[in-house]
Amino acid sequence: MQIIVLPSGSSAALATAQFLARLLRAQPASVLGLPTGRTMIPVYQTLISLHRRGRADFSKATTFNLDEFVGASPGNEGRYRAFMRRYLFDAVNVSRRRTHFPGEQGSSPSSYDEMISAAGGLDLCLVGIGMNGHLGFNEPAARLTPRTHRVRLMPATRRANAYLFDGRLREVPRLAHSMGIATILTARTVVLLATGASKAPIVRRAIGGPVTTRVPASLIQTHPNALVVLDRAAARELRRL
Ligand code: GLP
Repeated sequence: MQIIVLPSGSSAALATAQFLARLLRAQPASVLGLPTGRTMIPVYQTLISLHRRGRADFSKATTFNLDEFVGASPGNEGRYRAFMRRYLFDAVNVSRRRTHFPGEQGSSPSSYDEMISAAGGLDLCLVGIGMNGHLGFNEPAARLTPRTHRVRLMPATRRANAYLFDGRLREVPRLAHSMGIATILTARTVVLLATGASKAPIVRRAIGGPVTTRVPASLIQTHPNALVVLDRAAARELRRL
């Protein structure tokens, strides 16, 4: 695992976006695993500006998002597809038919893994980390489901996502589909981005603690080609190891 600590959230987001843009330049038909979350907004903003300067071309790329809510209607702006449209897809030249979300159009979770394989597998999977160590929507548990599956969201995770539903917790779905942890780990490269002091305790447990299903993000430690990008605030507890 390579760990890079940058001075600020914006420099960490910039480095992450440049990493993705470099891959797209080297391999325009890349297959990308993409996350949602506030951490990613500056990454996607940077990718949009790189795209406008001709430095990030998505025309041949294929994307598979990590997760999606179950039961939010297609017009619901809280859905992760709406998030991705708003913060990335509508502003770059990605082909809509090559953007994928688990469970869309009633597809079975396992078909998502088949679609990823049929596309050639994930070249890069970018991930954020939930406050409880979740990856995608793989919540902490005694056992994790390896492949794409349906999950029941923890109350804290629903609260953390309420901002997408105008702060109305009642409207946050209780169920979601998530790429499984093994699916994420099949990516040829995994990039974890975490920024801000609020993530410091979970970053310490995920990166500096033992590998455990109680902190799903800790499984990244087992990946042969993982890059962890942190800002100084998120990395500050790593020094205490
Ligand atoms: C959601 C997503 C996760 C993401 C997490 C962190 O729960 N399902 O994939 O990592 O949010 O979000 P934030 O970046 O807002 O802290």
